Amino acid sequence: MRFAALASLVAAALAPSAYAATYHLSDNWVGSAFLSAFTHEAIADPTHGRVNYVDQATAVAKNLTYASGDTLILRADHTTTLSASGAGRNSVRIRSVKTYDTHVVVWVSFILTSAVWPVVLTSPPLSASMCATCPKAAVHGPLPGRPTKATGPTAAKSTSIEGVNDQSPNAMTLHTGANCAMPASRTMTGTATNNNCDVNTDGNSGCGVQAPSANSYGPSFNANGGGWYAMERTNSFVKVWFFPRNAGNVPNDVKAGPATINTDTWGEPTALFPNTSCDIGGHFDANNIIINLTFCGDWAGQASIYSSSGCPSTCVDYVNNNPGAFANAYWDIASVRVWQ
Ligand SMILES: *[C@@H]1O[C@H](CO)[C@@H](O)[C@H](O)[C@H]1NC(C)=O
Ligand SMILES: *[C@@H]1O[C@H](CO)[C@@H](O)[C@H](O)[C@H]1NC(C)=O
Ligand SMILES: *[C@@H]1O[C@H](CO)[C@@H](O)[C@H](O)[C@H]1NC(C)=O
Repeated sequence: MRFAALASLVAAALAPSAYAATYHLSDNWVGSAFLSAFTHEAIADPTHGRVNYVDQATAVAKNLTYASGDTLILRADHTTTLSASGAGRNSVRIRSVKTYDTHVVVWVSFILTSAVWPVVLTSPPLSASMCATCPKAAVHGPLPGRPTKATGPTAAKSTSIEGVNDQSPNAMTLHTGANCAMPASRTMTGTATNNNCDVNTDGNSGCGVQAPSANSYGPSFNANGGGWYAMERTNSFVKVWFFPRNAGNVPNDVKAGPATINTDTWGEPTALFPNTSCDIGGHFDANNIIINLTFCGDWAGQASIYSSSGCPSTCVDYVNNNPGAFANAYWDIASVRVWQ
C-alpha cells in the first residue's frame, strides 16, 4: 500500500518534468561572436537568386558583414551596378557551425531601428520605392533551421521566416517530404494557408501559417522597431511565436534571455505544427541556423509575384541597375540565443 502510494507520487512528480517545456541556455551569440560560431557560405544560392555569396574575409573587408558591440549587420553590396552577363550582387549567407536536434528553442531578437527592409517609408513614389526591396524577399531569418539532410525522400526544410517583397504579414512554413499534414483546426493565433507540408504537392508551397499582425515582416516590422521570433522544436510539435517590439505580452524569458526558460508560460503560439499527422522527428534532421539575404530567385523573382508587388521591369534588371535601392535592405540582429 505504502509502496503503491510512493510509486504514484514519484510518477506524478516525474511526469510533468518529463514533458515540461523547460530548457537551459546553450548558446548566446551577440556581435562578433557570430564570426566564429557561423560560417560564411560562398556557395551558389540554392534558390537561384541574383546574388553572389562571398566568404567571410571578403564580407568583412567590404563591410557586408559588420559585427561589433551588440550589433550584427548583414547586407548586400549597394554601390555597384552589375553587368547583365556577370555575377549577381555580392551578398552574405551564414550558417551556424552547431546543429540542433529536437527539444531546442531558438530565440532571435532583431532590432531593426532604421527602415531596414524596404525603404518604402521614405522615398516616394510609393510603387518605385517599394521596389527598393522588390528584389526580394524571402528572408530566412535566424529562425530557419535548415536540414543537413539535403536530399532524399524525406529531405525537409524547417520553419522559416518568409515574406515576399514588401508583403506582410509574415508566413511561417514547414516544407517536408511525403506524408506530413496539419490538422485543419489548431490552437494558434495565425491563420493556416495550406495544410499539406509535402513539397511535392501544391506547387511546393509547404504548409504555411500567416501571422495575424502585419508588423511581423517588412516595412511595418521595421517601423515598429522589429521584434522577437522564437521557435520551439520537439518531436511532438514545432511552435513559432512572434512578438512585436512594443507588444505587451512579450514573455520575460524572451525579453531577458535567462539561463532557464519555460515555453509553457509563453501563451498561444503564432503557429503550431503538431505531429498528429506528421512524424516531426522523422521528417526533420538536425538543423543549422542560417541567415541569408538574396534577391529575386525562385519565389520572389517569379514574374507574377514580382509584378503584383508593384515593381518595375524584371526583378533581375532591377537588382542589376539599382544598387542604391539596397542600401537599406539588411539584417540587423541583436542576438540569437538557443536553449536545449
Ligand atoms: C560598416 O557598416 C556599419 C554598419 O552599417 C557602419 O556603421 C560602419 O560605419 C561601416 N564601416 C565603414 C568603414 O564603412
Ligand atoms: C535564404 O536561402 C534559402 C535557401 O537556402 C532560400 O530559400 C531563401 O529564399 C533565402 N532567403 C533570403 C532572404 O536570403
Ligand atoms: C507525437 O509525439 C508524441 C511525443 O513525442 C508521441 O508519443 C506520439 O506517438 C507522436 N504521435 C505521432 C502521430 O507521431
